[in-house]
Amino acid sequence: MNQDVIIALDFPTGAETLQFLDHFPAGEKPYVKIGMELFYAEGPDMVRAIKARGHRIFLDLKLHDIPNTVKRAMASLSRLDVDMVNLHAAGASEMMRAALEGLTRPDGSRPLLIAVTQLTSTNDAALKNELLIDTPMAETVMTYAKNAAASGLDGVVCSPLEAAGVKSVCGEKFVTVTPGIRFADSAAGDQKRIMTPELAGKSGCDYLVMGRPITQAEDPVAAYRRAVQDFLG
Ligand code: C5P
Repeated sequence: MNQDVIIALDFPTGAETLQFLDHFPAGEKPYVKIGMELFYAEGPDMVRAIKARGHRIFLDLKLHDIPNTVKRAMASLSRLDVDMVNLHAAGASEMMRAALEGLTRPDGSRPLLIAVTQLTSTNDAALKNELLIDTPMAETVMTYAKNAAASGLDGVVCSPLEAAGVKSVCGEKFVTVTPGIRFADSAAGDQKRIMTPELAGKSGCDYLVMGRPITQAEDPVAAYRRAVQDFLG
């Protein structure tokens, strides 16, 4: 089982991002996440630059469109040689299968494809009153995860508190990518349902996504190493 800590590069500019990565010694190449903020500011050249430095990349763009558009967009992302990408499971099975097709390179290799179930910013009231989904949140999340697994996807983004449940429903090999990770002594910020790296390691989490506890630390390299050590033991 591949397990790792992924640093969320939530910076507004490429210059700040590269400055942050320069903290790490030449031989240490953390797995990183590039999200919409940085990608929309700096474009695919930023992905290429970080890849050229030797990092593995989770490109967190959460695609959601008609199957043909998603398929073609995924083909573009796959050519960027990233290691993990994602989409909204709300796009339904046909879109998820098309995404997989688009991602697969001529040699048969492809990045991991991960689904977002329900955004953690969606609460029960919005689910019921705006999205008109009467099924309770927990059941909706698990059903979306099952749809993703049945469509051939590799895993889901979920809360570390949901990881064990996702594995029990979708299988041990179904990958869980979990934000909401905090050291016991670090600020929670706007994250509400949090877990320490150590407990996440015992709770079925495969990839921890950590932003501010590492990027805002006085010594980001030490914070990253601490997370890896606590998570992997
Ligand atoms: O700084 P922090 O550790 O809270 O960063 C977590 C990262 O994971 C951010 O990039 C955030 O957008 C992302 N994320 C999240 N919760 C989700 C999905 C993604 O915190 N449900």
